[in-house]
Amino acid sequence: MSNSGIAGRVVAALLLACAMPAAAEPAPARQKELIHMVRQDCGSCHGLTLQGGLGPALLPQTLADKPAEGLVATIVHGRPGTAMPPWHRFLAEEEAQWIVTRLMEGFPK
Ligand code: HEC
Repeated sequence: MSNSGIAGRVVAALLLACAMPAAAEPAPARQKELIHMVRQDCGSCHGLTLQGGLGPALLPQTLADKPAEGLVATIVHGRPGTAMPPWHRFLAEEEAQWIVTRLMEGFPK
């Protein structure tokens, strides 16, 4: 086996790593999908205006004193024993992070 094969694979892995930066923002089209999902699916429990319903309000003032990490974990894993379901099948952890950042700023329309 030649070394060039290994070198090629290393280069390919590096290219892949560069194409996927660690804290990537979702692509603009995916951001639209996520916004729609939060308004529709999350809104069915948290209120279409996120002012609360079956689930608590998800507004900047209600989330301000809560650690973002915990909120991300709640979205990804849900809260066992409550109505809050896990979303890991529908979104990546970075996407949940993106949603929490947006929620804390005031969620886009
Ligand atoms: C079936 C109803 C339901 C749906 C759908 C739902 N949630 Fe929840 N969510 C809840 C409930 C109920 C709680 C409160 C759980 C508890 O008692 O701790 C909660 C809690 C949360 C919290 C923690 C809030 C806090 O103040 O600690 C966040 C963040 C959250 N949900 C985000 C989301 C997001 C984002 C979505 C959509 C991807 C979503 N939820 C969809 C019911 C729901």
